[in-house]
Amino acid sequence: MHILITGGCGFIGSNFIRYILSTKPNIHVINLDKLTYAGNPANLSDIEKKFPRHYRFVKGDICDPQLVESLFQEHDLQWILNFAAETHVDRSILGPDAFIKTNIQGTYILLEAARKHWLHPGAAGSGAKRFLQISTDEVYGSLGAFGCFTETTPYDPSSPYSASKAAADHLAKSYFRTFGLPVLVTHSSNNYGPYQFPEKLIPLMIHNALSGLALPIYGDGRNVRDWVYVGDHCEALLRVLEKGRPGESYNIGGRSEKQNKEVVAFICDYLDRKLGSPAAGPRQRLMKFVTDRPGHDQRYAIDIAKLHRETGWQPEVPFEQGLQKTIDWYLENAAWVQAVRDGSYLKYYEKQYGKRLTS
Ligand code: NAD
Ligand code: DAU
Repeated sequence: MHILITGGCGFIGSNFIRYILSTKPNIHVINLDKLTYAGNPANLSDIEKKFPRHYRFVKGDICDPQLVESLFQEHDLQWILNFAAETHVDRSILGPDAFIKTNIQGTYILLEAARKHWLHPGAAGSGAKRFLQISTDEVYGSLGAFGCFTETTPYDPSSPYSASKAAADHLAKSYFRTFGLPVLVTHSSNNYGPYQFPEKLIPLMIHNALSGLALPIYGDGRNVRDWVYVGDHCEALLRVLEKGRPGESYNIGGRSEKQNKEVVAFICDYLDRKLGSPAAGPRQRLMKFVTDRPGHDQRYAIDIAKLHRETGWQPEVPFEQGLQKTIDWYLENAAWVQAVRDGSYLKYYEKQYGKRLTS
């Protein structure tokens, strides 16, 4: 069974590839990734060695219709999981261009290829095929003090990032309604875990706290995110592929609402306990409240009842345990963080494949 994973060299995609290859021995993964700054093929170096016949890496852009077409011609693709995206809200505020191209245009190219290959007259039938659009809870906008996002919460995106993801969701759903393409959409809350690029809150704060740098907390630090461990998210995605109903959306969350300042304080205290407090004083002294992010959503919280009811999934990793595991991973993988910080991770592809990076 061949599956196309886009954006598999990023944080969640690489965790998912590791998970699926260890869980399903008959699966062949084709990983299409452009290797933007966020794509690091070294995330999967052990997987390439362990599953040489079950894993193929293709460096390329989901916005390239010829390349996408060639992958559909070469493989009888059963599932497509579209992780590829520009994902960082702050970058979307500084420059939305790449977000519009990859997140909207790229999704369109993939949908068109799937439509052409899966739905043409005489096609083998799309019964078992699945197009999974990996979306985000951010399309719903911001919550007040109470309540949760459900799958029927109206879309109300705040940033160019979330607006581009919302546009892609609408396109994907339209391909189900208009053409009958077996599309499913998932809306996950904030993930954390190994291999997350250190621009996002948790890995950034771990790195800065270890380096004695300031810990910049936007606004008053009371914004709430509902954290889900990346391994739990991966399992939820497999359940959706196997048990979800085409045309439907599923929310994924960790039942772990935390204020940002609580998360940062936890990281500081855990590092102090584990490594000892620095001579200058406990790491919480590095916490600095800085100018707020424009359009900063106040609170996310996810109602996972639908996913639980239909697939039996629920998050297994409690936040404190998952965060300790994550901090330990970053401590044990200082070389990974160093390579990302000094840019040498960009050379991995060249060394491994003997080709120059073009982007
Ligand atoms: P990431 O930024 O770590 O990785 C994105 C990957 O996509 C990178 O490997 C990058 O090289 C690749 N990519 C970017 N543009 C591409 C293009 N045009 N063609 C091919 N590949 C391209 O992202 P992530 O945090 O792993 O997120 C993965 C998906 O999950 C995204 O769609 C994101 O919107 C969604 N999501 C993320 C979170 C989260 O907390 N990280 C939560 C909910 C949903
Ligand atoms: O909710 C799902 C989304 O979670 C995904 O769709 C996005 O791809 C992913 O980036 C993430 O978006 P956020 O904006 O919530 O994540 P980020 O790690 O950037 O920020 C988390 C919270 O921490 C948010 O309230 C902003 C705040 N923050 C972030 C950074 C980087 C700070 O206070 N300081 C920081 O330096």
